Amino acid sequence: MRTKKYVIKEGGKYVPSKDMKDIAWVSDDKIYSDAKKDPINFWGNLAREGLTWEKEWNQTYEEKLPYFNWFKGGKLNFCVNAVDRHLDKGNKTALIWVPEPINEKPIKLTYAELYDKVNKFANVLKGLGVKKGDVVSVYLPLIPEALVTMLACARLGAIHSVVFSAFSAEALKTRILDGKAKVLVTADGYYRRGEKSELFGKAKNAVKGTTIEKVIVVNRIGKRIFGRKFLDFDEVLEKADSYCKPEIMNSEDPLFILYTSGTTGRPKGIVHDTGGYAVQAYWTSKWNFNLHDDDVMWCTADIGWITGHSYAFYGPLLNGATTLIYEGAPDFPNFQRWWRIIEEFKVNVFYTAPTAIRMFMRVGDKHLKKFKMDSLKVLGTVGEPIDKDAWMWYFNTIGKGRCPVIDTWWQTETGGTLINVLPGVGPFVPTISGRSFPGTKHIIVDPKGQEIQKQGVVGELVQVSPFAPGMLHGVYKNHSKYVKTYWKSFKNKYDTSDGAYYDNGLIRITGRTDDVMKVAGHRLSTAELENALNNHKLVNESGVVPIPDKIKGEVPVAFVVLENSKDGSEKLIAELKKHVDLAIGPTARPELIYFVSDLPKTRSGKIMRRILKDILNNEKPEGLMTLVNPEIVEEIKMVVANHLSK
Ligand code: WTA
Repeated sequence: MRTKKYVIKEGGKYVPSKDMKDIAWVSDDKIYSDAKKDPINFWGNLAREGLTWEKEWNQTYEEKLPYFNWFKGGKLNFCVNAVDRHLDKGNKTALIWVPEPINEKPIKLTYAELYDKVNKFANVLKGLGVKKGDVVSVYLPLIPEALVTMLACARLGAIHSVVFSAFSAEALKTRILDGKAKVLVTADGYYRRGEKSELFGKAKNAVKGTTIEKVIVVNRIGKRIFGRKFLDFDEVLEKADSYCKPEIMNSEDPLFILYTSGTTGRPKGIVHDTGGYAVQAYWTSKWNFNLHDDDVMWCTADIGWITGHSYAFYGPLLNGATTLIYEGAPDFPNFQRWWRIIEEFKVNVFYTAPTAIRMFMRVGDKHLKKFKMDSLKVLGTVGEPIDKDAWMWYFNTIGKGRCPVIDTWWQTETGGTLINVLPGVGPFVPTISGRSFPGTKHIIVDPKGQEIQKQGVVGELVQVSPFAPGMLHGVYKNHSKYVKTYWKSFKNKYDTSDGAYYDNGLIRITGRTDDVMKVAGHRLSTAELENALNNHKLVNESGVVPIPDKIKGEVPVAFVVLENSKDGSEKLIAELKKHVDLAIGPTARPELIYFVSDLPKTRSGKIMRRILKDILNNEKPEGLMTLVNPEIVEEIKMVVANHLSK
């Protein structure tokens, strides 16, 4: 059979081919204008068609800014939509799990097997007193039990709060305290680059002094677990009853909380609801990736992040497709691992981050030569702007010039993708995300909130009413933070904190306009890192800024003022890096630490990070006039120059 080609070049542009148009759910851009005529009804129809409801809503959309509700009065259970309704698909595989060790066999779970485990685990949680509306903390690596746990929560109407397994005990603890969870589900560890990475010790430390009463531990690396508080996942699962009645939820009831970094020192708990989130996860998975239920989708994101929630787990399952997850590192045991997985499991949709693409690009095409990967149909990217070289390499070397690259812009807050082109519509243009998903609207505004329509002029990207169904339902127990972060800068417009401009009518994202960094696709805030550093007993204060990095996109650099300048040493640098590992996790570890005697500050005491950035980028710092201590700039320049000359 001939290998299908899903893109062609036409008029200097990449556009969908006939092969793509033939299989595309959406192949006509009329969908955008149709949706625009009546976006509320458009989503109402999609909700009816895509999901199984217990009771239809009486109001499709209600807006009382800064809050808005979709499908008010509608009732459903999320787990029923992701699992139960696919049980009639015979022995259809829901999940393929690839463990990192090569001598360990991948596991496939059919929808029926997943159903069995989820029901049992829901009963386990129920037995521990978890009920509708309770928060359950989840600190798990990418293993099938993560999916079972999250769906079991959804079955009970409990709210899962997943914490990235590479985050530290302290980071887990603050999140547990915020959500007041009684149960934590974790593992003894996981495999990373051939080593056993320990998790249990961190979990054990984290639960001390919190509301956690029971910890359920998955045995992944064979550690012996004991203690009254701790239960073995398999043991409790085995004993549980095999049916748990799904709790029928209101559409606006929360499904999960996921903490993310903003401009303050404390991460905020982003709340997502049940119905609206599900509708967006379902339709964006289907249309962006042209996902059919006989497709295998592999989204490489960890479940500690929103991409893992929406596209490694929920989107593909709501669609009744097969999702693949891989436990380990992309370069273990060598750089061929990912491509072997794609060939072995005939992956059709592959969704990853620019940082991974840049890493593979750097190590060269030789690792890819022998892989045809002709099962691939659609490639996706997410998490940060992708440069033209990386886009072209992804397109040519992974996709062999056959598959569209869909550059999806979205955020933890938006729940699902929002700006991208659709594979059957195109065009596919390097560095350009595209247009607002049908039925949603983004505009670009100047600092006063006035719309900028001119091509090429950078402004703030904002979303306007009606807001997308998957959008956050506030910040967990923190109304004022919700208002301040998203609704203060522009009246009645959701502030994305991203810059953007139009290029030939399509949206190009330029990146964050606030103090949020993207380090290897992971979202971190400078303030959180500064907080962590400032908590060290020898540190008086610190200023953290990102610098560009060829692979990771950005990496943090810290300027540290010590209590006593004599303490500055290489040893202290190592100690401070370790300190950040313990406070947040290794993902946040500063690449460089400079000791300085003061930081550039305004009269009101605000640290001028922009000036630190200019110094690092070897650009002339502007705005020295506003500083209370302009002389410090020369000193900092010297410190940086000295380091470079070493
Ligand atoms: C950035 C990840 C450019 C953006 C889903 C956003 C992107 C932040 C893209 C959210 C993209 C995400 N092009 N930038 N395709 N996708 N971003 O919450 O700055 O981890 O605000 O969600 O990532 O990061 P978060």
